[in-house]
Amino acid sequence: MYLGLDFGTSAVKALLVDDAQRVVGDATVPLGISRPAPGQSEQDPADWWQAMLDAVDLLRRDHAAALAAVRGIGLSGQMHGAVLLDAAGDVLRPAILWNDVRAAAECERLERDFPALRQVTGNIAMPGFTAPKLLWVRDHEPAVFARLRTVLLPKAWVRYRMTGEMIEEMSDASGTLWLDVGARDWSDAALAATGLSRNAMPRLVEGNAPAGALRPELAARWGMTQSPIFAGGAGDNAAGAIGLSAIAPGNAFVSLGTSGVLFVTTDNFRPYPQAAVHAFCHALPAIWHQMGVTLSAAAALAWWAGIAGQSEATLLAEMGMPSAPGAAMFLPYLGGERTPHNDGTLRGAFVGLSHDTDRAAMTQAVLEGVAFSLRDCMDALTASGTRLTSADVIGGGSRSRAWIAIIASVLDIPLHRLAAGENGGAFGAARLARMAVTGEAPETVCVPPLREETIFPDAALAQTYAERIVDYRRALPASRN
Ligand code: XUL
Repeated sequence: MYLGLDFGTSAVKALLVDDAQRVVGDATVPLGISRPAPGQSEQDPADWWQAMLDAVDLLRRDHAAALAAVRGIGLSGQMHGAVLLDAAGDVLRPAILWNDVRAAAECERLERDFPALRQVTGNIAMPGFTAPKLLWVRDHEPAVFARLRTVLLPKAWVRYRMTGEMIEEMSDASGTLWLDVGARDWSDAALAATGLSRNAMPRLVEGNAPAGALRPELAARWGMTQSPIFAGGAGDNAAGAIGLSAIAPGNAFVSLGTSGVLFVTTDNFRPYPQAAVHAFCHALPAIWHQMGVTLSAAAALAWWAGIAGQSEATLLAEMGMPSAPGAAMFLPYLGGERTPHNDGTLRGAFVGLSHDTDRAAMTQAVLEGVAFSLRDCMDALTASGTRLTSADVIGGGSRSRAWIAIIASVLDIPLHRLAAGENGGAFGAARLARMAVTGEAPETVCVPPLREETIFPDAALAQTYAERIVDYRRALPASRN
C-alpha cells in the first residue's frame, strides 16, 4: 500500500493506492490563500501541515487497515513557493507562492546581474519562480533575510516536518532558478546571484529515489507498525505526468488546475526561454520536460463563479455544450501571465460585451479565454521545436466535458478524457513511492491510464477559433495594469 500526498494550492489531497494500483481511499482538505496586496499570494505552511494531518486522519478513520499497511509515501506539490527557515528550522514568514507576481523588478535585476541565468537554468526569470522572491525579501524584509538559513519548496518543507530531513528532488528544484537543469545539480553561480549558497539548499535526489522515513510519532498516530519511507516525489505537474505515464518523449497533457499547464516529456534538456517555456527535469532520472503555463485556469472559473454567485457546476450546466464561439471574450490574466508573455502586470478583462450578453455567454468566454491562453502555450512549445499531436487532460477543470471540447478545438488536437482525471499529482506521487520502496523500473509501474473518451477538434469550430484568437491577442494591451 502506498500513500500519495499532494499539496495543491486550493487543497491537500491524500490518496491510498494498493499494490494493484487501485485507489482504495482518498481525502481532500481545502486550503485558503491570503492576498496581502494585489499580485501577492501567500499561505502559512502551518495550514499545509494541519490540512495534511486532517486528510490522513480522515483516511485513518475510513481506511484504517489500508493506512496501517502503507510502505511508502510520495509527495507532490505546488511548485516554486518559498518557505524561509531560520537556524532552528522555524518558518520566518508566510510562504510566497508560485502565483505571486510581486518580484517583477527583481527578475530584471537577476537577469542583468547574472547574464548566464538563462543558459544555466534553461529558464527566463519569472516572478513566480523562487529566486526573485528571495531578492524581494532581501530588499523589503532585510531583518527576515538576515535570519534566513534554508529555503525549501512547499513539499520539501512538509517532508522536513514529516521526516526530519531536508531533501528536494529534481523536478521541483528546476523551478527555483538555482538548479543547473541540464546537470541536475544546484548551480553555485545562480545561488550566489541571489546572495545564497548551497548551504541554504536541501540535498537533491531523483523523484523515484528514497528520501527519508516517517517520524515514529506520526507512524504511531496512523497505526503503522513500521515507518514508511518517502520517495523524492515531484512538483505537481511532473507528478501528474507520472500518474499519466507521460514518461516517453512526446507524451503530453493539459492540466486544468488552479493554473493551466501544457506539459510534454522530452528526452533531453530543451530550453526555450525567449517564449517563457519552462524547461525542467522530469521526476525520473535522465528525462526532462517542457511546460507552457497560464496562471489562471480553474482559478479563472472559480473567480467567475464567485462573482456570479453560483457554483461552478451550475454555471457549466447553464452554459451546456457551446456550438459556436461566443461573441464575448475573456482574458484570463487575473494575476499576470507566464507563457509566453512573462508579464506580471497583465490583468483579466471581459471584452465584446453587449446588451445580449448573458451569464452563460460570460461563462463560455471564461472557458474560451483559458483555452486561448493554452493555445499561446502550445504555439510557444511549437516554436521551440516540440510538436504536440494529442494530450490527456487532468485537474479539477477536466470534470467539464464542454471545457475539454473547447480546448480540443482551440488547440486543434485530440484530447483524452480520463476515467480518474482528478487524482493527478497524488496518484503520481504514490507511484513514485512504490518505485522508491520496490526499486521497480518506471516502465513497469507507469501503466497507461484508462481513457474514457477521446474528444476530437470540431473542424468548423477550430477554424473559427483560429480567427478569434487573433482578436484575443489584439485585446492584450488593454489588460495591462
Ligand atoms: C508550474 C506552476 C504551477 C504550480 C501549481 O510552473 O507554477 O503549475 O505548480 O501548483
